[in-house]
Amino acid sequence: MVAHVVPNDLSAFWMPFTANRQFKKSPRMFVAARDMHYTTADGRQVLDGTAGLWCVNAGHCRPKITEAIQRQAAELDYAPAFQMGHPKAFELANRLVDLAPDGLDHVLFTNSGSESVETALKVALAYHRVKGEGSRFRLIGRERGYHGVNFGGISVGGIVSNRKMFGTLLTGVDHLPHTHNLATNAFSKGEPEHGAELADELERIVTLHDPSTIAAVIVEPVAGSTGVLIPPKGYLQKLRDITKKHGILLIFDEVITGYGRLGTPFAADYFGIVPDIMVTAKGLTNGVIPMGAVLVSAQIHDAFMTGPDHLIEFFHGYTYSGNPIASAAGIATLETYKEEGLLTRGAELGLYWQDALHSLKGEPHVIDVRNIGLVGAIELEPIAGAPTKRAFSAFVKAYESGYLIRTTGDIIALSPPLIVEKHHIDELVDGIRKVLREVE
Ligand SMILES: Cc1ncc(COP(=O)(O)O)c(C=O)c1O
Repeated sequence: MVAHVVPNDLSAFWMPFTANRQFKKSPRMFVAARDMHYTTADGRQVLDGTAGLWCVNAGHCRPKITEAIQRQAAELDYAPAFQMGHPKAFELANRLVDLAPDGLDHVLFTNSGSESVETALKVALAYHRVKGEGSRFRLIGRERGYHGVNFGGISVGGIVSNRKMFGTLLTGVDHLPHTHNLATNAFSKGEPEHGAELADELERIVTLHDPSTIAAVIVEPVAGSTGVLIPPKGYLQKLRDITKKHGILLIFDEVITGYGRLGTPFAADYFGIVPDIMVTAKGLTNGVIPMGAVLVSAQIHDAFMTGPDHLIEFFHGYTYSGNPIASAAGIATLETYKEEGLLTRGAELGLYWQDALHSLKGEPHVIDVRNIGLVGAIELEPIAGAPTKRAFSAFVKAYESGYLIRTTGDIIALSPPLIVEKHHIDELVDGIRKVLREVE
């Protein structure tokens, strides 16, 4: 057994998206993990109801992935990403293209979801420009969208706290309305019935600005970080039809929905809609090594492949794009998903998951339960005058009782590793039930 040393000075690390002062008063430290569980610094087991941060889809410390990383680190630690290559990045790109919906044929590697978003937006703008349509400079996002934390992502994103501190952001951005409507859709199972017409707002925006100015529309097929907002039936198809009609690129941000979360390899498969660009990260390497991948159509890629062949076609990339160790982790992760049928496990377990979650209807504070694939949300009535407090208390109580859940606003979001078993689902839901009965 490894002795775990826990630091007693927590002040230097300014933690991301964390209530730093609260955390440092009563830290929640994980020191080990295996499969469905974390081990805390005080030796308790915590059931992972969130796949880490929506990323550990194959469960924790999976041997094949660990060994691939160890082998790669000893064999080829780093190769320059620009003007040089190494075989594993090409192998991973090929595997991704095989896995992705037909029509997404080329891959750009990044190191995170945020970088994947920036990459996708830049590809979209540059694509129109190389085609001679440089007037298409506008980007359309959606209210309550989360596309990471970099400037492009927060500009097209629609979460006020993530945007309000940072000046004018990118100009030329507009937003679709979000689709969350408890008045018509509370306690929906799967896709809600009402709200497809909200996609028609895109026509209004297009008319306002003129299609010749619009480069791309970016949406999460299912909005994750803002509290699991599931698209109404028919909504995404309408977005696809309208974008196609006007020559606008459709970008799916599948950072959360990719790699099996909905019971299909990608949300694009679930909804039967192929975007022009697909943004991924997180589950690509099971969260183990930072890596993202942006998949684009041949039409987009080929538009750049002109001019003398000694010239760089696209001035973009990162020192760590397709890093050997990340590539090895990605290959081992995709193999693990395939060998264990994890990319479709959400379809097999989806009904069980749905029934378990909806059994929380009627518990204290619960104003909605919603689910799709192996994702779910329980929305709580906020405490008057103290939004987010109730859900945060539930999060802390759940952790203390042995369950890792995630809260955003007053919504509990759940997304267990795809290796989850029925007994874990029962345990998690019963644990949450107890917490809801205790929390003020
Ligand atoms: C849909 C979506 N896009 C982008 C991101 C940003 O990813 P990262 O935190 O790896 O930069 C996230 C992270 O949760 C996400 O959910």
